[in-house]
Amino acid sequence: MTMAGKVAIVTGGAQGLGAAVVRLLSEAGAQVLITDIADAAGGSLAAELGEGARFLHHDVSSAADWSAAIKAAEDAFGPVDILVNNAATTQRPASVEDFGEEEYRRIFEVNQLSVFLGMRAVVPSMRKAGAGAIVNISSVAGLVGQRAAIGYVATKFAVRGMTKAAALDLAPYNIRVNCVHPGAIDTPMLRQVTEAMEGDPVGDFCRTLPIPRQAAPKEVASAVLFLVSDGASFCTGVTMPVDGGWTV
Ligand SMILES: NC(=O)c1ccc[n+]([C@@H]2O[C@H](COP(=O)([O-])OP(=O)(O)OC[C@H]3O[C@@H](n4cnc5c(N)ncnc54)[C@H](O)[C@@H]3O)[C@@H](O)[C@H]2O)c1
Repeated sequence: MTMAGKVAIVTGGAQGLGAAVVRLLSEAGAQVLITDIADAAGGSLAAELGEGARFLHHDVSSAADWSAAIKAAEDAFGPVDILVNNAATTQRPASVEDFGEEEYRRIFEVNQLSVFLGMRAVVPSMRKAGAGAIVNISSVAGLVGQRAAIGYVATKFAVRGMTKAAALDLAPYNIRVNCVHPGAIDTPMLRQVTEAMEGDPVGDFCRTLPIPRQAAPKEVASAVLFLVSDGASFCTGVTMPVDGGWTV
């Protein structure tokens, strides 16, 4: 899947799944703007990848930061062909009765509002390019409920719905919009969640899955790469679980 000549933005690209997507895009020949609030990790990944990669500090919940990100990508490389809305955060484990309004608003802004702002911001650039491919990263939590995760589940279900709405709106401009729903991936986010738990409930659960383990970030990144590639030219509005059979 060659990406030669393509210009991509990957949010939350400094570590975890985002960094794996950045690496695959870069290896395939794309020029990549890595955006994140983690400046040190993002900057060092861009430096490692060389001329075809840049890093920009970008809070995805800020409309002004989105304008700056599109401008930075266009100034560095030209109109944007690919956007991967990957950045997200988790919530403090809490049931619906214990979760705070401010906590809910914060996860809504980082995980959900961000995806709307990003898709809206990139459309003019993709229309200049003549086509585009957007992949939004949801979760199995956008397909089935999870305990003690009302904010996270709400935002990830919303990302799935926004993908379908935008796929319909943007098809006339040759812009495809698809959604990837990972299961458990071995990233800093999951490690942070599991380290706060007694024992190894996540590991124990993963050993019961049809594919009985966590995914390496690259195994999910390769699904993202397919959906943004020309190989997926007839795919839009897709809900793609990459979950080892979790939701089968
Ligand atoms: N790890 C898993 O098991 C898992 C499972 C399902 C879905 N996901 C989803 O995959 C995506 C990547 O997750 P990950 O596991 O690599 O997480 P991660 O925490 O390892 O990486 C997320 C990145 O997003 C960045 N980020 C956080 N808030 C931001 C903001 N406001 N603006 C810009 N960047 C911000 C972080 O700095 C970090 O670099 C997320 O959408 C997550 O919800 C992960």
